[in-house]
Formats: sequence, C-alpha cells, structure tokens
Amino acid sequence: MRTVLVNCGPIVHLDVEGPCTGSDMSNEEMIYDAGKAIIINGNVIEKILESSEDAIDFTDSDSEIINVDGKAIIPGLIDSHSHIIWAGDRSREVRWKQQGHSYADIASMGGGISYTVAATRAANKTKLHNSAKKRLQIAAKSGTTHIETKSGYGLDLDSELKLLEVAHNLSHDDSLPTIDSTWLGAHAIPKEHTLKSYTEELISIQLPKIAESGLARSADVFCEPGWFGVEESELILKESRKMGLNLRIHIDEFVDGGGGELAADLKVDSADHAHYTNSNARNLMKEAGVNTGFLPGTPYSMGSDWPDFNSMISLDAPWSIATDFNPNNQILSLPFIASCLVQRCNVDPLSALVASTINPSLTTPHPSGLPHGRICEGAVANINILHSKHWESWCLTPGHSPVCATILNGNYQLHDF
Ligand code: NIG
Ligand code: FE
Repeated sequence: MRTVLVNCGPIVHLDVEGPCTGSDMSNEEMIYDAGKAIIINGNVIEKILESSEDAIDFTDSDSEIINVDGKAIIPGLIDSHSHIIWAGDRSREVRWKQQGHSYADIASMGGGISYTVAATRAANKTKLHNSAKKRLQIAAKSGTTHIETKSGYGLDLDSELKLLEVAHNLSHDDSLPTIDSTWLGAHAIPKEHTLKSYTEELISIQLPKIAESGLARSADVFCEPGWFGVEESELILKESRKMGLNLRIHIDEFVDGGGGELAADLKVDSADHAHYTNSNARNLMKEAGVNTGFLPGTPYSMGSDWPDFNSMISLDAPWSIATDFNPNNQILSLPFIASCLVQRCNVDPLSALVASTINPSLTTPHPSGLPHGRICEGAVANINILHSKHWESWCLTPGHSPVCATILNGNYQLHDF
C-alpha cells in the first residue's frame, strides 16, 4: 500500500555521501524547496516528485494521501547512543551533586551505576519491557525512528542476557523505533569482583555466550580512569571483534584517559562522550575514520561545560550527537539535545541535524540494510513532519516536541497535527 505526502513544505533531504563533515554539514543544497510530493511504498521511499499534481499517477483507491499543508519535513532521527533498559530511580543523586559530590564520589556512596544494577537485577523481564517501551514511545514522539541501546546494568551473564532479550522483544514492535543492540557488560565493576577478575569473566564467560546468542550487534566498554583502563578496554574490544561483534567505546567523559588513541588504533565505529579528548587523539580518530559521538545530555545533567562542537567542523572530522538516555540523564529527545548545541553553543541547526541523522546512520545501520537518516528514493520511509513551515524549528522547542507526525518504517503516526 502506498502513502502519498502532498503539499510538502521544505524537505531537508540530506541525500549526500556520508559521513558529512566540515562546512558540508551546513550546505543548503541538502534542502528541497517547498512543493514536492513523496511517494512511500511499504517501508521504502519510492519516489520524490516535483509537484503534488504528479502524485496522481501513483495513487489508487488503496493509497493513503496526507496533505502536509506546507509543513517542513526532516528525516527520521537516529539516536545512536542510549541506555533504555533498566530499573530503579536515582533522583536523590541530584542533591548529592549539588552538595559537590562527583560522579565517582556518588558511585562510592552507593549511588551511580551499581545502584541501578541492583534494581535491574531484581526486576523481571515484563517490568523492564514495559518501562523501556514507555521510554521508546516518548522518544518516538520527538521524532526518533531508530535507536541504539545497550545492556550494562546486569553485569553478570544471566542479567546481561536478560537485558538483551528485552531489547530483542521490543525490536519486534512495529509501533516503536527500530533497535540496534549493544552489549555493555564492561560498564562497571560489580561489587563481587575486582577489575582483573571481572575482565576475565567478561572475556571467558559473558562474551562467548553473548556472541552465541546473536542478541548484540556490537560491544562497548566504559573506558575511563576508575572504571575500565585502556589496557582492559583494548583486551575486551579485541576479543569481542574476534567473536564477530562491531565495536563502540565510551571515552574521556570526565578526563582525557587515553581512550581516543585506543579508539583510533582499533578503528571502532563510534567513540562516544569524547568530551576531554586531546587534539592529537582527535586527529588520529579522524585519520582512522572513527566517528565522534557527542552526548551533550551528560554535561547538561551534570552541570558541566559543553565540549567545543564547532571545533569538529574546523577539523573536518565525522561526528554525531545522541541522547545517552540513562538513569543519570533522562533525556529522550534528540531535538532537545540539538537545541543545546544550537541555542547554547552556536552550532548551525543544519549541522546539528546532519549529526542526528545521516552521520549516525553510518555507525548505527537500519536492520533492513537500507539507507536511513536521509530522504531519498530507496531509503527507509522514516520521515518527520514538523509543526512549523520552517525546518530550523526542529530544534527550537526544547520543552515540547517539534514533530507533529512521523512516518515510521512506512507507517503514518500522527502525534498532534
Ligand atoms: O554513558 N558513563 C557511563 N555510562 C553512562 C552513565 C551510566 C549511569 O550513570 O548510570 C553514560 O553516561
Ligand atoms: Fe553511555
């Protein structure tokens, strides 16, 4: 069955060779003027037509015709780094932060990741499924059509598998964003282990079973002084690659811990946070083709400074942004994250959109194998219709969603027209 979008406003199509870097990120040739029509067949964009009149040839009694009424159109957003599946509530930590306790202090006071691990281990799959489903529905209302999510709050084989199974079950729900699943067993050292004994457990017990399960496409490590060092991270990631997993890494969230050099050396798909990465490591990452995944929600939630996003434009290196939704940073809206860049850090709204669509599409592929994060013939029909006729509005309403309707895998979902 066809869905036909007529009277489209400006379409930010982003139909370019990715990754898009440097000044290309703000090139207005990536935008079509208003007036076009988009033909969707099943879950694929079949045709982009010059005018709504031309759409007649593609409609029959079965077609669903949507009058976009001149509203602006952008691609479905891709959240390439999140932690959606966990239980518990860490709200009390906000006052500890205000009293001057660091993230590491809070962990040693019984908060942080290990608090979430205890609650998540105790939760059954139904409870985890229901809370994660609600989060995915909220993300979808803000235009997310595809999301990467990680395990990492189980930290033993059965609990990590439980989280990946929940992700797998959610991935069968057509009303939700599609899911890219990552194993993050190396997220923290559980109380019953030392760094050495847990690293051994990760490699010899968890990894073989996780790889055999087929439930994770990638492996990730929290490489940060105080959690996993460069040496352990290298070992875990190299073994993961041998077992057929793709690689991602958390680096330099609080200090420059040498993760950037490792990310370049291993040519991981995406090195995320990368807040305090030194310029030599940024150059090495660029040469190695490693994407930098900025996670501005973390400095927002922690009350720390923003990284210098525009320096990535000068460096001409590939970068993306993502929510990093987690118990310490409960942001599910990519438009809000982009607002932080655009309205607080002087980043161009078109560059911020590239960093939320086409660039993360390369590190976070769609399960169909089709291109996504762009609006072109042959791509997945993941499209957002905005409330405004101006595409720039996509990141200018931090308190509510700029999206009035989403085409998710070809299915029209009206949020609020
Ligand atoms: O990416 N930094 C490591 N992991 C998460 C935070 C996890 C947590 O605090 O629960 C992150 O920010
Ligand atoms: Fe993270």
